[in-house]
Amino acid sequence: MEKVYEGKAKIVYKTEDPDKYILYFKDTATAFDATKRAEVEGKGELNNNISSLIFQLLEERGIRTHFIRKLSSREMLVWRAKRFELEVVVRNISAGSLCKRLGIEEGKPLEKPLVEFFYKNDELHDPLVCYDHIILLGLLKEEQIHEIKHITFRVNEILREFFSQHGLILVDFKLEFGQLPDGSLAVVDEVSPDTCRLWDAKTGEKLDKDRFRFDLGDLLEGYRKVLEKLQG
Ligand code: C5P
Repeated sequence: MEKVYEGKAKIVYKTEDPDKYILYFKDTATAFDATKRAEVEGKGELNNNISSLIFQLLEERGIRTHFIRKLSSREMLVWRAKRFELEVVVRNISAGSLCKRLGIEEGKPLEKPLVEFFYKNDELHDPLVCYDHIILLGLLKEEQIHEIKHITFRVNEILREFFSQHGLILVDFKLEFGQLPDGSLAVVDEVSPDTCRLWDAKTGEKLDKDRFRFDLGDLLEGYRKVLEKLQG
């Protein structure tokens, strides 16, 4: 298969259909601008499973995504998308870079969900950008910013409820957006414990990539617990 793109955690391949790509989930875990890196056998499979489950749910709830279907343990069939160079982060509880940047204590529930945009640019280390920066850089048009914010809040509502029903607290997560071959705006990339902070609602245990970032325990054990809860 011809490779289109290789990222830190996934590889994108072409298929016979020019409008469809295959996402291959790797076992590589990275953090802190990829200065911390490890191979974690089984991570790719878990993230493909969890992401597929979440994309299916979003599609059922009327959110357009690039997901077509899960092909194999590590592969997902997706629509080709022109990806925006932007990461959209939603926060329900303070954690991570929000605490570091603004001196807020971790674990404070936010009065209302907070949306942040980051410019996806390795050289610049993905800086936080405001509305006018996004326009200045030509990353999105004004109406696209509003549409993306609207979709993002809706995704947050759906996922918060879904995770909560399965004993998990959705602290924050990152979405990426792109344009599908038919021109529609869609959620792309993945939604997994690599891209979400998920805490056990009963014990408060962190079950996401923070385990790897801060050596909090076995990464796979956390991801496995997430999948088991979602399937349970
Ligand atoms: O690091 P920060 O607190 O800004 O991360 C917010 C959320 O976005 C976390 O769930 C994190 O896993 C996710 N994220 C991501 N990819 C990035 C940056 C953050 O998935 N490049």
